Amino acid sequence: MGHVVVIGSGIAGLISALRAARVHDVTLVTKAELTAGSTAWAQGGIAAAVFADDSPELHARDTLAAGAGLSDPEAVRLLAREGAARLHDLVALGVEFDRVSGASTGSAAGPLGWARGLEAAHSVARVLHAGGDATGRIIESALAGALDAARAQGRMHVREHTTAVAIVRGGDGRVCAVDVVPSPTAAGAHPGADAPVERLAADAVVLATGGNGQLYRHTTNPPVATGDGVVLGYAAGAAVVDLEFVQFHPTVLPGGGLVSEAVRGEGAVLLDAAGRRFLTGAGHDPRAELAPRDVVARAIAAQMREQSGAPVLLDATALGAGVLRERFPTIDRLVRAAGFDWTREPVAVTPAAHYAMGGLLTDMSGRTTVAGLFAVGETGSTGVHGANRLASNSLLEALVVGWLAGDLLAAAPAAAAPSLPTPALSTTQDQRGDDDLTAAVPTRLSGGLEAADALRNGTIPVTGDYLRDRAWDALGLLRDESTMSELARELADARPADALAARLLPLARLTAEAARARRESRGAHARTDYPATEPALRWRRAWVRPGSVSPELLTRDAAVDAPEPALAAAAPTREATR
Ligand code: FAD
Ligand code: SIN
Repeated sequence: MGHVVVIGSGIAGLISALRAARVHDVTLVTKAELTAGSTAWAQGGIAAAVFADDSPELHARDTLAAGAGLSDPEAVRLLAREGAARLHDLVALGVEFDRVSGASTGSAAGPLGWARGLEAAHSVARVLHAGGDATGRIIESALAGALDAARAQGRMHVREHTTAVAIVRGGDGRVCAVDVVPSPTAAGAHPGADAPVERLAADAVVLATGGNGQLYRHTTNPPVATGDGVVLGYAAGAAVVDLEFVQFHPTVLPGGGLVSEAVRGEGAVLLDAAGRRFLTGAGHDPRAELAPRDVVARAIAAQMREQSGAPVLLDATALGAGVLRERFPTIDRLVRAAGFDWTREPVAVTPAAHYAMGGLLTDMSGRTTVAGLFAVGETGSTGVHGANRLASNSLLEALVVGWLAGDLLAAAPAAAAPSLPTPALSTTQDQRGDDDLTAAVPTRLSGGLEAADALRNGTIPVTGDYLRDRAWDALGLLRDESTMSELARELADARPADALAARLLPLARLTAEAARARRESRGAHARTDYPATEPALRWRRAWVRPGSVSPELLTRDAAVDAPEPALAAAAPTREATR
């Protein structure tokens, strides 16, 4: 038995903690209260191939198409294959997915009479939901119930309002501890540099800190989503990958609050300021409002530019008051609080930063390139989502990867799990001219290894709020070299002026560097100066902190392609979580 520290209490952290605690002592550290992450806010649902007109192959095909050539096909196939079993495991833990009923517009029922929603770029309706649009809250609360049971058995220790601030490695390079500090009591506040540090010894550490949305002025993400895990892992020497790929959700209330894609899946349409549909007709994706998220988000941004920045309108009135209130009770409350009666009038919406496809480079068991360090959920980047995530695949990926990580830890002494190899250095920009979505995607270390340390401190103070504005302007829906290099120049000599900036500055530097390095448009990464997708750039670009990779690795020519799922070590089981 060993000691595993899990950082973060969303779906990914909770699942990996529960699985690991079957064997090990687990300490779960979380920055605010248990339910403060994105998981509890998830609306649309969770995708899996469980209906008669669907199959894992079809789900995999849709996921690869959305990923725009950068999804790792092996990882995608594993995700699609494991989906149904993991959903049944959620049911065993107490999650009740909605069933077809009078209020539901779901058509053919699945195995348990499940209703299903349609979201963008899915070729069939396959999104299961719970509580109408409260899927994440219901999953989170079932997992929290399982956590309580595990606590009662004595192997699970939960530390709320505790922030992880450093990962510690021993002389052998393996992770050996985590430094934590008390979180400030004010909601959304971040600990300062003077907070008292406590060191928690660990045989293995799982980073499950969620996404990066707070880097942007406009985001769907909760205040805890400041990309801490990515920066903690980078600081400890783990490779980061794909940080240029940030998904913007098309339909967010201007004052904040998501209006799920499932609403468009049920038939809501987008209108310009004059009340006309603008996503139909020549020159538009034939899927109109249900085209992939990046396509719809960019079209909305273009329309907003044409109408002097005014938001576009989402018209859901045709769905009828009954469906809107019963199928979408959470959104009903949000739009009413924003002053709209959406049963009678269209609602103003704009795009906002929503999901990080990039993160710490991992395999499907969450292993990073540092021994003993795992990353699961939105913090990790398995290659499943590629350049653009398919809607409702993130809860599923967090569940599948969190499960496999917990099982890998439980299967071996926690201190024995091997790390992923660090990818080989890229010696040339152009790697592969292959546009076959089912072909493996190489992962290479960026030639930008000589780039400055993203954790350095310069002389010009910048606040977190300022960084959020600058990231929105320069690293948003549309990017170009001149805007991004201006930002990079500013960031080069910046130092954090407050606790939020201490979190966001390294993330902003890494994101800007990744976005500048990718000189093409692909999926969610759209550059006005490089509008085409370049087949030769079909490779995933990874970064490590300067000095964290030994020089012999840089000259080594052993190509390490996309990470392989460590299934042999962690065969998924149907055994219920204790
Ligand atoms: P989270 O659930 O975000 O949890 C992160 C945890 O880490 C939190 O507990 C946080 O407090 C903690 N933490 C962060 N930093 C630290 C630190 N330094 N120390 C200690 N703890 C820390 N996906 C879908 O598949 N379907 C959907 O319908 C859907 N809807 C969404 C709606 C909204 C509004 C949002 C924001 C996202 C949605 N997503 C959806 C995406 C999905 O919810 C997330 O990707 C997923 O929940 C991430 O889970 P996670 O466990 O990785 O992280
Ligand atoms: C939504 O409900 O529109 C969000 C779903 C997701 O992010 O996967």
